[in-house]
Amino acid sequence: MRFKYLRTISHPLIQEKLTTMRDRRTPNRDFRQLLSEISALMVFEMTQNLPTRSISVETPLGKNAKGLKLARRLALVPIWRAGLGMLEGVHRLIPQAGVGHIGIYRDEVSLQPVEYYCKLPPNLAEAETIVLDPMLATGGSAAHAVTLCKRAGAKHISFLCLLAAPEGCERFFAVHPTVPVYTAAFDEGLNSRGYILPGLGDAGDRLYGTEK
Ligand code: PRP
Ligand code: URA
Repeated sequence: MRFKYLRTISHPLIQEKLTTMRDRRTPNRDFRQLLSEISALMVFEMTQNLPTRSISVETPLGKNAKGLKLARRLALVPIWRAGLGMLEGVHRLIPQAGVGHIGIYRDEVSLQPVEYYCKLPPNLAEAETIVLDPMLATGGSAAHAVTLCKRAGAKHISFLCLLAAPEGCERFFAVHPTVPVYTAAFDEGLNSRGYILPGLGDAGDRLYGTEK
């Protein structure tokens, strides 16, 4: 793999859902449901090495059982709009996580990220921060969102997406060389309008039924 901090999660359940999402015939409602499910499965995989600390609890039988707690709080940060479609599934799995919101859209002509909202949880320095957006295309939106998290103090950050383009990885890792990116697929590249190929189309439009 060309990028040291890029991880592709190739579990068959994830890949089957991704294939249905790529299919142009998949209705918005199914696309939304699948994005929620696939995000939860991916987060389950990507968090398997989270740091933990040992604890002991007393069971109803008056015995102590050894167990564990996550060593750090979790913070989920979806990038609007499409990252919101990932939040519900992930938050159901990790309900104790705080949630930050970052509003970014990509200018259609320049393809540069335009920030319009940012509200992040306090004390991000001690948190495990997971930034959510299904698409890493030119990488501008993802790189900017991670920069905002770092500015807010976050130190343990990872980025979760469904599709990553080589161009996006180049740009992202040039800015954040040690922030891990987890993806379900590493696609071929971008078209002249910055869309991932073969891709899955415009994720926000397919989520919310705003295709032209
Ligand atoms: C999409 C996607 C990412 C961004 C990726 O959002 O959800 O945020 O494009 O492209 P990049 O890697 O080239 O920055 P979009 O700009 O379409 O905004 P929307 O979700 O509000 O429609
Ligand atoms: N944003 C999308 O939603 N899809 C792409 O292919 C690229 C950017």
